[in-house]
Amino acid sequence: MWATGAFLAALLAVPANCKYIVPGGRWHDTNGSIINAHGAGITFDQKSGRFWWFGEHKTEDQPEGGGVSVYSSADLGTWTWERLALAPVEGHPYISPENIIQRPKVAYSTSTDNYHMWWHADNSSYGLLLQGHAVSSTIGGPYKFVDATAPLGNWSQDFGMFTDYKSDQTYALYSNGDSVEGRDVYISTFDKNLTSLENSVYRFPKFDLEAPTIMQTEKSYWALMSHKTGYRPNNVVAFRADSLSGPWSQPFIVSPLNTRTFNSQSGFTLRIKGTKKTTYLYIGDQWDSNSVWDSRYIWLPIEVNEKQKSLELNWHDVYDLDVKTGEWSPVKGKSYSVQNAKTSGGAYKQEANFATDGVILTGIYGNVSTVTFENIEGSGKPQWVSFYYQSMSSILILPTQNFYLKIPDIDDMGFGDQPGGTPDRIGGSWQLRRISSVVVNGDVSSMQTLYQRDTHKGIILSTPLQLTLKKGKVNTITVGGLFNGFDYKGADLDQIVIYPAEN
Ligand SMILES: *[C@@H]1O[C@H](CO)[C@@H](O)[C@H](O)[C@H]1NC(C)=O
Ligand SMILES: *[C@@H]1O[C@H](CO)[C@@H](O)[C@H](O)[C@H]1NC(C)=O
Ligand SMILES: *[C@@H]1O[C@H](CO)[C@@H](O)[C@H](O)[C@H]1NC(C)=O
Ligand SMILES: *[C@@H]1O[C@H](CO)[C@@H](O)[C@H](O)[C@H]1NC(C)=O
Ligand SMILES: *[C@@H]1O[C@H](CO)[C@@H](O)[C@H](O)[C@H]1NC(C)=O
Repeated sequence: MWATGAFLAALLAVPANCKYIVPGGRWHDTNGSIINAHGAGITFDQKSGRFWWFGEHKTEDQPEGGGVSVYSSADLGTWTWERLALAPVEGHPYISPENIIQRPKVAYSTSTDNYHMWWHADNSSYGLLLQGHAVSSTIGGPYKFVDATAPLGNWSQDFGMFTDYKSDQTYALYSNGDSVEGRDVYISTFDKNLTSLENSVYRFPKFDLEAPTIMQTEKSYWALMSHKTGYRPNNVVAFRADSLSGPWSQPFIVSPLNTRTFNSQSGFTLRIKGTKKTTYLYIGDQWDSNSVWDSRYIWLPIEVNEKQKSLELNWHDVYDLDVKTGEWSPVKGKSYSVQNAKTSGGAYKQEANFATDGVILTGIYGNVSTVTFENIEGSGKPQWVSFYYQSMSSILILPTQNFYLKIPDIDDMGFGDQPGGTPDRIGGSWQLRRISSVVVNGDVSSMQTLYQRDTHKGIILSTPLQLTLKKGKVNTITVGGLFNGFDYKGADLDQIVIYPAEN
Protein backbone atom coordinates (compact mmCIF):
# COMPACT_ATOMS: atom_id res chain seq x y z
CA MET A 1 0.00 0.00 0.00
CA TRP A 2 1.26 3.39 -0.89
CA ALA A 3 1.11 6.70 0.73
CA THR A 4 1.81 9.50 -1.60
CA GLY A 5 -0.03 10.67 -4.67
CA ALA A 6 3.21 11.48 -6.47
CA PHE A 7 4.01 7.82 -6.98
CA LEU A 8 0.56 6.74 -8.02
CA ALA A 9 0.76 7.06 -11.76
CA ALA A 10 3.66 4.63 -11.85
CA LEU A 11 2.11 2.31 -9.30
CA LEU A 12 -1.19 1.76 -11.01
CA ALA A 13 0.68 -0.17 -13.69
CA VAL A 14 2.20 -2.53 -11.12
CA PRO A 15 1.04 -6.18 -11.29
CA ALA A 16 -1.68 -7.21 -8.89
CA ASN A 17 0.53 -9.36 -6.68
CA CYS A 18 3.00 -6.60 -5.78
CA LYS A 19 0.90 -4.75 -3.24
CA TYR A 20 2.01 -5.30 0.29
CA ILE A 21 -0.45 -5.42 3.16
CA VAL A 22 0.86 -3.55 6.20
CA PRO A 23 -1.34 -3.97 9.30
CA GLY A 24 -1.66 -0.78 11.32
CA GLY A 25 -0.14 1.45 8.61
CA ARG A 26 -1.76 4.56 7.22
CA TRP A 27 -3.42 3.16 4.11
CA HIS A 28 -4.17 5.46 1.22
CA ASP A 29 -6.54 5.13 -1.70
CA THR A 30 -5.47 5.65 -5.31
CA ASN A 31 -6.11 9.39 -5.05
CA GLY A 32 -3.88 9.69 -1.98
CA SER A 33 -6.55 10.08 0.73
CA ILE A 34 -6.47 8.02 3.93
CA ILE A 35 -8.87 5.06 3.62
CA ASN A 36 -11.93 5.74 5.74
CA ALA A 37 -13.96 2.52 6.07
CA HIS A 38 -14.18 1.19 9.63
CA GLY A 39 -16.04 -1.85 10.97
CA ALA A 40 -15.55 -3.26 7.48
CA GLY A 41 -17.33 -5.77 5.31
CA ILE A 42 -15.61 -6.89 2.11
CA THR A 43 -17.65 -8.45 -0.68
CA PHE A 44 -16.13 -10.15 -3.71
CA ASP A 45 -18.43 -9.37 -6.64
CA GLN A 46 -18.56 -11.94 -9.45
CA LYS A 47 -19.89 -9.41 -11.96
CA SER A 48 -17.05 -6.90 -11.61
CA GLY A 49 -14.40 -9.42 -10.53
CA ARG A 50 -13.41 -6.95 -7.80
CA PHE A 51 -13.39 -6.74 -4.02
CA TRP A 52 -15.64 -4.05 -2.52
CA TRP A 53 -14.76 -2.68 0.90
CA PHE A 54 -17.71 -1.16 2.78
CA GLY A 55 -17.13 0.58 6.09
CA GLU A 56 -18.15 3.33 8.45
CA HIS A 57 -17.18 6.74 7.13
CA LYS A 58 -15.92 8.45 10.29
CA THR A 59 -14.98 12.08 10.61
CA GLU A 60 -14.18 14.20 13.63
CA ASP A 61 -17.63 15.83 13.35
CA GLN A 62 -19.46 12.58 12.58
CA PRO A 63 -17.68 9.71 14.30
CA GLU A 64 -20.70 7.38 14.10
CA GLY A 65 -23.24 8.75 11.62
CA GLY A 66 -21.03 9.60 8.65
CA GLY A 67 -22.63 6.99 6.41
CA VAL A 68 -21.00 4.07 4.59
CA SER A 69 -17.92 4.39 2.36
CA VAL A 70 -17.17 2.01 -0.46
CA TYR A 71 -13.81 1.36 -2.13
CA SER A 72 -13.00 -1.25 -4.76
CA SER A 73 -9.88 -3.26 -5.54
CA ALA A 74 -8.66 -6.06 -7.77
CA ASP A 75 -5.83 -7.11 -5.45
CA LEU A 76 -6.82 -6.12 -1.87
CA GLY A 77 -3.81 -3.77 -1.84
CA THR A 78 -4.75 -0.93 -4.20
CA TRP A 79 -8.07 0.66 -3.26
CA THR A 80 -10.08 3.10 -5.34
CA TRP A 81 -12.54 5.37 -3.59
CA GLU A 82 -15.98 4.89 -5.18
CA ARG A 83 -18.44 6.97 -3.18
CA LEU A 84 -20.51 7.16 -0.04
CA ALA A 85 -22.54 3.99 -0.67
CA LEU A 86 -25.04 5.15 1.96
CA ALA A 87 -25.06 8.87 2.64
CA PRO A 88 -26.55 10.26 5.85
CA VAL A 89 -29.80 12.22 5.41
CA GLU A 90 -30.51 15.22 7.66
CA GLY A 91 -33.59 14.63 9.86
CA HIS A 92 -33.96 10.97 8.87
CA PRO A 93 -35.08 8.74 11.79
CA TYR A 94 -32.42 6.07 11.07
CA ILE A 95 -29.66 7.48 8.85
CA SER A 96 -29.29 11.08 9.96
CA PRO A 97 -25.80 12.29 10.94
CA GLU A 98 -26.95 11.92 14.59
CA ASN A 99 -27.73 8.22 14.14
CA ILE A 100 -25.39 5.29 14.62
CA ILE A 101 -24.59 3.60 11.29
CA GLN A 102 -22.20 0.78 12.17
CA ARG A 103 -20.63 -2.37 10.73
CA PRO A 104 -22.21 -2.32 7.23
CA LYS A 105 -22.17 -5.56 5.21
CA VAL A 106 -23.30 -6.22 1.63
CA ALA A 107 -24.45 -9.44 -0.10
CA TYR A 108 -25.90 -10.17 -3.52
CA SER A 109 -29.27 -11.86 -3.97
CA THR A 110 -29.68 -13.85 -7.20
CA SER A 111 -33.46 -13.83 -6.79
CA THR A 112 -33.75 -10.02 -6.70
CA ASP A 113 -30.57 -9.40 -8.77
CA ASN A 114 -29.85 -6.64 -6.25
CA TYR A 115 -27.18 -5.93 -3.67
CA HIS A 116 -28.43 -5.69 -0.12
CA MET A 117 -26.69 -3.68 2.55
CA TRP A 118 -27.42 -4.38 6.23
CA TRP A 119 -25.95 -2.68 9.29
CA HIS A 120 -26.48 -1.84 12.96
CA ALA A 121 -28.94 1.06 12.90
CA ASP A 122 -29.38 2.99 16.10
CA ASN A 123 -29.84 6.33 17.78
CA SER A 124 -27.00 7.99 19.65
CA SER A 125 -27.87 6.36 22.99
CA TYR A 126 -28.04 2.84 21.48
CA GLY A 127 -31.71 2.68 22.44
CA LEU A 128 -33.17 1.41 19.15
CA LEU A 129 -30.96 -1.67 18.51
CA LEU A 130 -32.21 -2.26 14.95
CA GLN A 131 -30.89 -3.65 11.68
CA GLY A 132 -30.87 -1.24 8.75
CA HIS A 133 -31.47 -2.36 5.17
CA ALA A 134 -30.67 -0.56 1.91
CA VAL A 135 -30.64 -1.78 -1.66
CA SER A 136 -28.83 -1.10 -4.94
CA SER A 137 -28.80 -2.66 -8.40
CA THR A 138 -25.03 -2.13 -8.62
CA ILE A 139 -22.57 -3.16 -5.95
CA GLY A 140 -20.99 0.28 -5.70
CA GLY A 141 -24.32 1.95 -4.95
CA PRO A 142 -25.51 4.49 -4.03
CA TYR A 143 -27.80 2.37 -1.88
CA LYS A 144 -31.41 3.34 -1.25
CA PHE A 145 -32.62 3.13 2.35
CA VAL A 146 -35.42 0.56 2.76
CA ASP A 147 -36.08 0.17 6.48
CA ALA A 148 -34.65 -0.41 9.93
CA THR A 149 -36.23 -3.34 11.78
CA ALA A 150 -35.97 -5.45 14.92
CA PRO A 151 -34.68 -8.88 13.81
CA LEU A 152 -37.28 -11.53 14.67
CA GLY A 153 -38.67 -9.00 17.13
CA ASN A 154 -35.46 -8.76 19.11
CA TRP A 155 -32.59 -6.30 19.72
CA SER A 156 -29.52 -6.13 17.52
CA GLN A 157 -26.25 -4.36 18.17
CA ASP A 158 -22.91 -5.30 16.51
CA PHE A 159 -23.78 -6.73 13.12
CA GLY A 160 -22.17 -9.28 10.80
CA MET A 161 -23.22 -11.14 7.67
CA PHE A 162 -22.04 -14.47 6.35
CA THR A 163 -22.77 -16.41 3.14
CA ASP A 164 -22.13 -20.17 3.21
CA TYR A 165 -20.13 -20.94 0.05
CA LYS A 166 -21.51 -24.50 -0.09
CA SER A 167 -25.24 -23.70 0.22
CA ASP A 168 -25.25 -20.03 -0.84
CA GLN A 169 -27.43 -19.30 2.21
CA THR A 170 -26.78 -15.91 3.83
CA TYR A 171 -26.98 -15.36 7.60
CA ALA A 172 -27.10 -12.37 9.91
CA LEU A 173 -24.92 -12.42 13.05
CA TYR A 174 -25.68 -10.00 15.79
CA SER A 175 -25.00 -9.42 19.42
CA ASN A 176 -28.20 -8.30 21.08
CA GLY A 177 -27.04 -5.58 23.37
CA ASP A 178 -25.66 -4.99 26.82
CA SER A 179 -28.83 -5.42 28.88
CA VAL A 180 -29.00 -8.33 31.32
CA GLU A 181 -31.76 -9.84 29.15
CA GLY A 182 -29.55 -9.54 26.06
CA ARG A 183 -25.83 -10.40 25.97
CA ASP A 184 -26.35 -13.18 23.43
CA VAL A 185 -25.08 -13.50 19.85
CA TYR A 186 -27.48 -14.86 17.23
CA ILE A 187 -27.01 -16.54 13.86
CA SER A 188 -30.23 -16.12 11.82
CA THR A 189 -31.06 -17.02 8.22
CA PHE A 190 -32.03 -14.43 5.63
CA ASP A 191 -34.73 -15.15 3.08
CA LYS A 192 -33.49 -15.68 -0.50
CA ASN A 193 -34.26 -12.03 -1.32
CA LEU A 194 -32.08 -10.85 1.58
CA THR A 195 -34.93 -8.58 2.63
CA SER A 196 -35.82 -10.12 6.01
CA LEU A 197 -34.77 -12.74 8.54
CA GLU A 198 -36.47 -16.12 8.68
CA ASN A 199 -35.34 -17.89 11.83
CA SER A 200 -32.45 -18.23 14.25
CA VAL A 201 -30.22 -21.26 13.79
CA TYR A 202 -28.06 -20.67 16.88
CA ARG A 203 -27.73 -18.47 19.95
CA PHE A 204 -24.37 -18.09 21.72
CA PRO A 205 -25.79 -17.83 25.23
CA LYS A 206 -24.66 -15.12 27.66
CA PHE A 207 -21.00 -14.93 26.61
CA ASP A 208 -21.56 -11.17 26.33
CA LEU A 209 -19.44 -10.90 23.17
CA GLU A 210 -19.67 -8.56 20.18
CA ALA A 211 -18.14 -7.75 16.78
CA PRO A 212 -19.04 -11.21 15.39
CA THR A 213 -17.86 -12.72 12.12
CA ILE A 214 -18.04 -16.25 10.74
CA MET A 215 -15.38 -17.89 8.62
CA GLN A 216 -15.92 -21.13 6.71
CA THR A 217 -13.15 -23.62 5.96
CA GLU A 218 -13.48 -27.03 4.22
CA LYS A 219 -14.47 -28.82 7.43
CA SER A 220 -15.48 -26.14 9.89
CA TYR A 221 -17.28 -22.96 10.74
CA TRP A 222 -15.38 -20.55 12.98
CA ALA A 223 -17.12 -17.70 14.77
CA LEU A 224 -14.75 -14.92 15.90
CA MET A 225 -15.92 -12.29 18.39
CA SER A 226 -14.49 -9.81 20.83
CA HIS A 227 -15.29 -9.07 24.44
CA LYS A 228 -17.10 -5.84 25.21
CA THR A 229 -14.50 -3.25 26.16
CA GLY A 230 -15.69 -0.38 23.99
CA TYR A 231 -12.91 1.04 21.85
CA ARG A 232 -10.22 -0.60 23.99
CA PRO A 233 -8.80 -3.85 22.58
CA ASN A 234 -9.18 -7.27 24.20
CA ASN A 235 -8.38 -10.89 23.39
CA VAL A 236 -10.62 -11.88 20.47
CA VAL A 237 -11.97 -15.42 20.80
CA ALA A 238 -13.18 -18.04 18.31
CA PHE A 239 -15.64 -20.92 18.53
CA ARG A 240 -15.56 -23.91 16.14
CA ALA A 241 -18.40 -26.10 14.84
CA ASP A 242 -19.17 -28.64 12.10
CA SER A 243 -22.55 -27.03 11.57
CA LEU A 244 -23.85 -23.50 12.06
CA SER A 245 -26.57 -24.83 14.33
CA GLY A 246 -23.87 -26.27 16.61
CA PRO A 247 -22.77 -27.79 18.83
CA TRP A 248 -20.12 -25.04 19.04
CA SER A 249 -16.84 -25.44 20.93
CA GLN A 250 -15.77 -23.46 23.95
CA PRO A 251 -14.36 -20.07 22.92
CA PHE A 252 -10.56 -19.88 22.67
CA ILE A 253 -8.13 -16.96 22.32
CA VAL A 254 -6.87 -16.50 18.73
CA SER A 255 -3.68 -14.42 19.13
CA PRO A 256 -0.58 -14.51 21.38
CA LEU A 257 -1.53 -13.83 25.00
CA ASN A 258 -1.49 -10.26 26.24
CA THR A 259 -1.25 -8.71 22.78
CA ARG A 260 -5.01 -8.10 22.86
CA THR A 261 -5.23 -9.37 19.29
CA PHE A 262 -2.35 -7.02 18.41
CA ASN A 263 -4.44 -4.15 19.73
CA SER A 264 -7.43 -4.79 17.48
CA GLN A 265 -11.08 -5.82 17.42
CA SER A 266 -12.65 -8.45 15.17
CA GLY A 267 -15.53 -7.69 12.79
CA PHE A 268 -14.93 -9.50 9.53
CA THR A 269 -13.08 -12.39 7.90
CA LEU A 270 -12.40 -12.82 4.20
CA ARG A 271 -11.99 -16.14 2.37
CA ILE A 272 -9.73 -15.89 -0.69
CA LYS A 273 -9.95 -19.01 -2.81
CA GLY A 274 -6.94 -18.88 -5.10
CA THR A 275 -5.74 -21.30 -7.76
CA LYS A 276 -3.13 -22.77 -5.38
CA LYS A 277 -4.36 -22.05 -1.90
CA THR A 278 -7.32 -20.78 0.12
CA THR A 279 -6.28 -17.98 2.44
CA TYR A 280 -8.37 -16.49 5.22
CA LEU A 281 -7.86 -12.94 6.40
CA TYR A 282 -8.79 -11.44 9.72
CA ILE A 283 -10.16 -7.97 8.99
CA GLY A 284 -10.02 -6.06 12.27
CA ASP A 285 -10.06 -2.49 13.52
CA GLN A 286 -7.29 -0.91 15.53
CA TRP A 287 -9.46 1.68 17.22
CA ASP A 288 -8.01 4.89 18.56
CA SER A 289 -10.39 5.92 21.31
CA ASN A 290 -8.97 9.47 21.40
CA SER A 291 -9.73 10.03 17.71
CA VAL A 292 -11.84 7.14 16.52
CA TRP A 293 -12.05 8.56 12.98
CA ASP A 294 -8.26 8.14 12.72
CA SER A 295 -8.33 4.43 13.62
CA ARG A 296 -6.37 1.95 11.54
CA TYR A 297 -6.91 -1.53 10.18
CA ILE A 298 -5.32 -4.82 11.22
CA TRP A 299 -5.55 -7.42 8.48
CA LEU A 300 -3.69 -10.67 9.13
CA PRO A 301 -3.73 -14.17 7.64
CA ILE A 302 -5.56 -16.68 9.83
CA GLU A 303 -3.69 -19.95 10.20
CA VAL A 304 -6.12 -22.85 10.53
CA ASN A 305 -5.35 -26.27 11.94
CA GLU A 306 -8.40 -28.47 11.30
CA LYS A 307 -6.78 -31.48 13.05
CA GLN A 308 -6.24 -29.58 16.26
CA LYS A 309 -9.56 -27.78 15.77
CA SER A 310 -7.81 -24.46 16.21
CA LEU A 311 -6.80 -21.33 14.41
CA GLU A 312 -4.40 -18.54 15.18
CA LEU A 313 -3.38 -15.07 14.16
CA ASN A 314 0.31 -14.28 14.00
CA TRP A 315 1.82 -10.87 13.47
CA HIS A 316 3.51 -9.84 10.22
CA ASP A 317 4.65 -6.24 9.76
CA VAL A 318 4.46 -6.52 5.98
CA TYR A 319 3.20 -9.36 3.78
CA ASP A 320 2.61 -9.99 0.14
CA LEU A 321 -0.70 -11.54 -0.88
CA ASP A 322 -1.55 -12.78 -4.36
CA VAL A 323 -5.33 -12.94 -4.65
CA LYS A 324 -5.09 -14.99 -7.87
CA THR A 325 -3.14 -17.90 -6.38
CA GLY A 326 -4.28 -17.27 -2.79
CA GLU A 327 -0.67 -17.47 -1.63
CA TRP A 328 0.90 -15.02 0.78
CA SER A 329 4.33 -14.60 2.31
CA PRO A 330 5.84 -12.30 4.90
CA VAL A 331 8.23 -9.68 3.48
CA LYS A 332 11.71 -9.81 5.08
CA GLY A 333 13.05 -6.64 6.62
CA LYS A 334 16.40 -5.55 8.07
CA SER A 335 16.51 -5.05 11.83
CA TYR A 336 18.40 -2.21 13.51
CA SER A 337 19.01 -2.86 17.19
CA VAL A 338 18.75 -0.23 19.91
CA GLN A 339 22.10 -1.68 21.15
CA ASN A 340 23.90 0.28 18.42
CA ALA A 341 21.75 3.40 18.51
CA LYS A 342 23.01 6.77 19.80
CA THR A 343 21.21 8.47 22.65
CA SER A 344 20.96 12.12 23.66
CA GLY A 345 19.91 13.76 26.92
CA GLY A 346 18.31 11.38 29.40
CA ALA A 347 17.56 8.52 26.97
CA TYR A 348 19.27 5.27 28.01
CA LYS A 349 19.44 1.53 27.41
CA GLN A 350 18.01 -0.72 30.10
CA GLU A 351 18.19 -4.49 30.51
CA ALA A 352 14.92 -6.15 29.48
CA ASN A 353 14.84 -9.94 29.14
CA PHE A 354 11.68 -9.75 27.00
CA ALA A 355 13.26 -7.43 24.40
CA THR A 356 14.60 -8.58 21.02
CA ASP A 357 18.21 -7.81 21.97
CA GLY A 358 17.82 -7.95 25.74
CA VAL A 359 17.64 -4.15 25.94
CA ILE A 360 14.90 -1.51 25.85
CA LEU A 361 15.74 2.05 24.98
CA THR A 362 13.86 4.18 27.46
CA GLY A 363 13.77 7.77 28.70
CA ILE A 364 12.93 9.35 25.34
CA TYR A 365 11.39 12.75 26.12
CA GLY A 366 10.48 15.58 23.78
CA ASN A 367 13.36 16.69 21.58
CA VAL A 368 15.88 16.80 24.44
CA SER A 369 16.19 13.05 25.12
CA THR A 370 16.18 11.19 21.83
CA VAL A 371 17.66 8.17 20.10
CA THR A 372 19.25 8.10 16.67
CA PHE A 373 19.74 4.99 14.54
CA GLU A 374 22.65 5.46 12.12
CA ASN A 375 23.91 4.01 8.83
CA ILE A 376 20.45 2.87 7.84
CA GLU A 377 20.23 1.50 4.35
CA GLY A 378 17.51 3.05 2.21
CA SER A 379 16.23 2.58 -1.32
CA GLY A 380 15.53 6.17 -2.35
CA LYS A 381 11.80 5.36 -2.56
CA PRO A 382 9.08 5.32 0.11
CA GLN A 383 9.39 2.17 2.21
CA TRP A 384 7.79 0.80 5.34
CA VAL A 385 9.66 1.02 8.63
CA SER A 386 8.29 -0.79 11.69
CA PHE A 387 8.95 0.64 15.11
CA TYR A 388 8.93 -2.02 17.83
CA TYR A 389 8.25 -0.79 21.34
CA GLN A 390 7.33 -1.97 24.77
CA SER A 391 3.72 -1.43 25.76
CA MET A 392 3.31 0.94 28.67
CA SER A 393 0.21 -0.37 30.47
CA SER A 394 -1.64 2.37 28.72
CA ILE A 395 -4.86 0.49 29.22
CA LEU A 396 -5.64 1.92 32.57
CA ILE A 397 -8.59 2.49 34.74
CA LEU A 398 -8.77 6.24 34.97
CA PRO A 399 -11.65 7.28 37.20
CA THR A 400 -10.89 10.81 36.07
CA GLN A 401 -8.09 12.44 34.19
CA ASN A 402 -7.24 14.39 37.33
CA PHE A 403 -6.66 11.17 39.16
CA TYR A 404 -4.19 10.25 36.46
CA LEU A 405 -2.35 13.53 36.62
CA LYS A 406 -1.61 13.03 40.30
CA ILE A 407 0.37 9.90 39.47
CA PRO A 408 2.54 10.92 36.54
CA ASP A 409 4.75 7.86 36.72
CA ILE A 410 1.98 5.31 36.83
CA ASP A 411 3.75 3.63 33.90
CA ASP A 412 6.45 2.46 36.21
CA MET A 413 4.23 1.07 38.92
CA GLY A 414 4.01 -2.48 37.67
CA PHE A 415 2.71 -4.94 35.18
CA GLY A 416 -0.77 -3.73 34.54
CA ASP A 417 -2.17 -4.00 38.05
CA GLN A 418 -3.18 -0.38 38.29
CA PRO A 419 -5.11 1.19 41.12
CA GLY A 420 -8.82 0.99 40.44
CA GLY A 421 -9.09 -2.56 39.14
CA THR A 422 -8.38 -4.54 36.02
CA PRO A 423 -8.11 -2.95 32.60
CA ASP A 424 -11.24 -4.68 31.31
CA ARG A 425 -13.45 -3.44 34.10
CA ILE A 426 -16.70 -1.91 32.88
CA GLY A 427 -16.37 1.84 32.91
CA GLY A 428 -12.62 1.65 32.37
CA SER A 429 -11.16 4.08 29.91
CA TRP A 430 -8.23 3.81 27.60
CA GLN A 431 -5.66 6.39 26.70
CA LEU A 432 -3.21 6.44 23.89
CA ARG A 433 -0.14 6.91 26.06
CA ARG A 434 2.90 7.46 23.90
CA ILE A 435 3.30 9.56 20.80
CA SER A 436 6.74 9.85 19.20
CA SER A 437 8.32 12.04 16.56
CA VAL A 438 10.26 10.34 13.79
CA VAL A 439 12.78 12.43 11.87
CA VAL A 440 14.79 11.15 8.89
CA ASN A 441 18.27 12.62 8.26
CA GLY A 442 17.63 15.50 10.65
CA ASP A 443 14.93 17.01 8.42
CA VAL A 444 12.49 18.22 11.10
CA SER A 445 10.18 19.74 8.46
CA SER A 446 9.15 16.27 7.27
CA MET A 447 8.74 14.80 10.75
CA GLN A 448 6.26 11.94 11.05
CA THR A 449 4.15 11.02 14.06
CA LEU A 450 4.24 7.55 15.56
CA TYR A 451 1.09 6.73 17.51
CA GLN A 452 1.89 3.84 19.82
CA ARG A 453 -0.90 1.24 20.26
CA ASP A 454 -0.62 -0.49 23.58
CA THR A 455 -1.67 -3.60 25.42
CA HIS A 456 0.13 -4.73 28.62
CA LYS A 457 3.47 -3.52 29.94
CA GLY A 458 6.35 -5.69 28.76
CA ILE A 459 4.54 -6.80 25.62
CA ILE A 460 6.27 -5.78 22.40
CA LEU A 461 4.09 -4.51 19.56
CA SER A 462 5.05 -2.63 16.41
CA THR A 463 3.63 0.21 14.34
CA PRO A 464 4.70 0.94 10.76
CA LEU A 465 5.39 4.31 9.14
CA GLN A 466 6.17 4.86 5.50
CA LEU A 467 9.44 6.82 5.20
CA THR A 468 11.57 7.98 2.31
CA LEU A 469 15.24 7.22 2.94
CA LYS A 470 18.17 8.07 0.70
CA LYS A 471 19.71 5.29 -1.37
CA GLY A 472 22.58 3.55 0.45
CA LYS A 473 23.70 3.08 4.06
CA VAL A 474 23.66 6.79 4.71
CA ASN A 475 20.49 7.50 6.69
CA THR A 476 19.68 8.40 10.26
CA ILE A 477 16.33 8.00 11.99
CA THR A 478 15.79 10.00 15.18
CA VAL A 479 12.96 9.27 17.59
CA GLY A 480 11.79 11.83 20.16
CA GLY A 481 8.67 12.30 22.28
CA LEU A 482 5.54 14.34 21.46
CA PHE A 483 2.81 15.62 23.76
CA ASN A 484 0.18 12.94 24.45
CA GLY A 485 -2.13 15.02 26.62
CA PHE A 486 -0.05 14.29 29.74
CA ASP A 487 3.65 14.60 28.93
CA TYR A 488 6.29 14.35 26.20
CA LYS A 489 7.45 10.77 26.83
CA GLY A 490 8.31 8.90 23.64
CA ALA A 491 8.25 5.19 22.88
CA ASP A 492 10.28 2.64 24.85
CA LEU A 493 11.98 1.25 21.77
CA ASP A 494 12.96 -2.35 21.13
CA GLN A 495 14.19 -2.24 17.50
CA ILE A 496 13.30 -0.81 14.12
CA VAL A 497 12.89 -2.90 10.99
CA ILE A 498 13.30 -1.48 7.47
CA TYR A 499 11.30 -3.18 4.71
CA PRO A 500 12.23 -3.10 1.03
CA ALA A 501 10.31 -0.72 -1.24
CA GLU A 502 7.85 -2.39 -3.58
CA ASN A 503 9.62 -2.95 -6.94
C1 LIG B 1 -10.60 10.84 -3.20
O1 LIG B 1 -11.01 9.96 -2.19
C2 LIG B 1 -11.71 10.56 -1.11
C3 LIG B 1 -12.02 9.52 -0.09
O2 LIG B 1 -10.93 8.71 0.17
C4 LIG B 1 -12.96 11.22 -1.62
O3 LIG B 1 -13.59 11.89 -0.56
C5 LIG B 1 -12.65 12.17 -2.73
O4 LIG B 1 -13.84 12.63 -3.28
C6 LIG B 1 -11.81 11.50 -3.79
N1 LIG B 1 -11.43 12.48 -4.78
C7 LIG B 1 -11.51 12.21 -6.07
C8 LIG B 1 -11.05 13.31 -6.97
O5 LIG B 1 -11.93 11.16 -6.50
C1 LIG C 1 -38.45 -11.76 -3.79
O1 LIG C 1 -38.10 -10.93 -4.89
C2 LIG C 1 -38.83 -11.25 -6.05
C3 LIG C 1 -38.24 -10.43 -7.19
O2 LIG C 1 -38.16 -9.04 -6.82
C4 LIG C 1 -40.30 -10.96 -5.81
O3 LIG C 1 -41.05 -11.31 -6.97
C5 LIG C 1 -40.79 -11.79 -4.63
O4 LIG C 1 -42.11 -11.44 -4.30
C6 LIG C 1 -39.90 -11.56 -3.42
N1 LIG C 1 -40.25 -12.46 -2.36
C7 LIG C 1 -40.38 -12.05 -1.11
C8 LIG C 1 -40.73 -13.12 -0.10
O5 LIG C 1 -40.20 -10.89 -0.76
C1 LIG D 1 -33.20 6.25 21.50
O1 LIG D 1 -34.34 5.43 21.43
C2 LIG D 1 -34.83 5.00 22.69
C3 LIG D 1 -35.98 4.04 22.40
O2 LIG D 1 -36.94 4.67 21.59
C4 LIG D 1 -35.25 6.20 23.51
O3 LIG D 1 -35.68 5.79 24.77
C5 LIG D 1 -34.04 7.13 23.65
O4 LIG D 1 -34.43 8.31 24.32
C6 LIG D 1 -33.51 7.50 22.30
N1 LIG D 1 -32.29 8.28 22.46
C7 LIG D 1 -32.10 9.43 21.83
C8 LIG D 1 -30.80 10.12 22.07
O5 LIG D 1 -32.93 9.90 21.06
C1 LIG E 1 -34.71 -11.67 22.68
O1 LIG E 1 -33.42 -12.05 23.10
C2 LIG E 1 -33.34 -12.50 24.45
C3 LIG E 1 -31.90 -12.76 24.76
O2 LIG E 1 -31.29 -13.51 23.75
C4 LIG E 1 -34.21 -13.73 24.63
O3 LIG E 1 -34.17 -14.12 25.98
C5 LIG E 1 -35.62 -13.39 24.22
O4 LIG E 1 -36.40 -14.56 24.27
C6 LIG E 1 -35.68 -12.84 22.82
N1 LIG E 1 -37.01 -12.33 22.52
C7 LIG E 1 -37.66 -12.67 21.42
C8 LIG E 1 -38.99 -12.01 21.21
O5 LIG E 1 -37.21 -13.44 20.60
C1 LIG F 1 11.84 21.25 20.79
O1 LIG F 1 10.63 21.20 21.54
C2 LIG F 1 10.20 22.45 22.01
C3 LIG F 1 9.01 22.20 22.94
O2 LIG F 1 8.02 21.46 22.32
C4 LIG F 1 9.89 23.35 20.83
O3 LIG F 1 9.48 24.62 21.28
C5 LIG F 1 11.13 23.49 19.95
O4 LIG F 1 10.81 24.21 18.79
C6 LIG F 1 11.66 22.13 19.56
N1 LIG F 1 12.92 22.30 18.88
C7 LIG F 1 13.19 21.68 17.74
C8 LIG F 1 14.56 21.94 17.17
O5 LIG F 1 12.41 20.94 17.18
